[in-house]
Amino acid sequence: MGSVAEGLVPPAHSESQLPPPPPEAAAHSRLLGELIASTILDEGDWIPFSRFMELALYAPGLGYYAAGARKFGAEGDFVTAPEISPLFAQCLALQAQQVLSLAGGAILELGPGSGKLAADVFQQLKSLGNAPDRYLMLEVSPDLRERQQSLIAQRFPEDKERFTWIDTLPEKITGFVIANEVLDVVPFSLVQRRGGELYEQGVILTEAGFAWDDGPLPDGELRRRALAAFPPGDYQYLSEVGLAAEALVRTLARALERGAAVFIDYGFPEREFYHPQRSMGTLRCHYRHRFHNDPFFMPGLQDITAHVDFTAMARAAESAGAEVLGFTTQAHFLISCGLAVLVSDKDPTATLSRLKGTSAAYRLINPAEMGELFKVLGIGKGIDAPLLGFQSARPLQL
Ligand SMILES: C[S@@+](CC[C@H](N)C(=O)[O-])C[C@H]1O[C@@H](n2cnc3c(N)ncnc32)[C@H](O)[C@@H]1O
Repeated sequence: MGSVAEGLVPPAHSESQLPPPPPEAAAHSRLLGELIASTILDEGDWIPFSRFMELALYAPGLGYYAAGARKFGAEGDFVTAPEISPLFAQCLALQAQQVLSLAGGAILELGPGSGKLAADVFQQLKSLGNAPDRYLMLEVSPDLRERQQSLIAQRFPEDKERFTWIDTLPEKITGFVIANEVLDVVPFSLVQRRGGELYEQGVILTEAGFAWDDGPLPDGELRRRALAAFPPGDYQYLSEVGLAAEALVRTLARALERGAAVFIDYGFPEREFYHPQRSMGTLRCHYRHRFHNDPFFMPGLQDITAHVDFTAMARAAESAGAEVLGFTTQAHFLISCGLAVLVSDKDPTATLSRLKGTSAAYRLINPAEMGELFKVLGIGKGIDAPLLGFQSARPLQL
């Protein structure tokens, strides 16, 4: 690593408002900052934001998802639905059960995080007498993979052979695919319209650290997509384009031979994602349960995300021959899967656990929390029946 890069590792822009990390974590972040800085110098003094994000989240051994930060739960940076309550997984298990009965095959989970969702889905299916023969976990982070493996070994010592960890998508998939909060962390591009021209936002090094810098946006897919999706007019507008997330959905849809996949994430259909008033985009960083919009703050110690353009994901799936099986809010999906029955089935004498279940269910469906902002997109091939989670759900327009 060059000494210039070392000297230019950025101070955090928002350091004054965010709690400082312990010294060991700060040192880790400095190392990753140096790696990103030297990459900028090696790659022509400018890298597109998508490259910055790829390194900040996935640089081997250093990136946020590739190293050992706590991430999930109360002591981490954010809380995902499976960490709030097993009810979320239990609903997905009922959806999985329906698809597996129609299509056969295995469950494949993308980005299983702490492994809790997989464990609770498996537990529910097992208690229904329908434990899947195979549960595949596609995890790009070695650190998370280790955590998942130890959780599964601890919870299902007798069934652990049914779980398999994989590095890439299988060439052929039959069964049920789950991706909860995965698409939002796939590196995206940032495009800005200014003075009627389009630019790609990238990152440079300055004496003060990392800084934004626009590069010209040449002809190509990114330009074509921004031109088609941005609202008309030539006022200043900045947003994300998730070409890599689309590629992931397309590859998955192409590999799917028979079965269904559900993508759950915060996001909107295209017309709301690229709404004229959303002129600053949706980039959001998560650090110790605070969110802000400075991706240069403490690389490696915070998550970097954006909302998902579900219309683009649906088109990607359709371009690979899959059908859209439903699109609705998380609240409608969970209720349609039977959330209320799962809560009321709890032992009525176990008052505390019942109350906890009710309160967690409310968090999952409350419009002010995850219920409305989070959406579920279902895609599939060879599935004739309506999916359980969309059967009685209010459909949203893509
Ligand atoms: C925000 S976490 C969500 C974890 C978990 N699904 C949950 O709901 O708690 C994102 C997860 O996606 C994984 N991930 C990121 N890019 C991926 C990709 N291209 N394929 C599969 N997993 C990916 C990360 O390593 C991480 O496990």
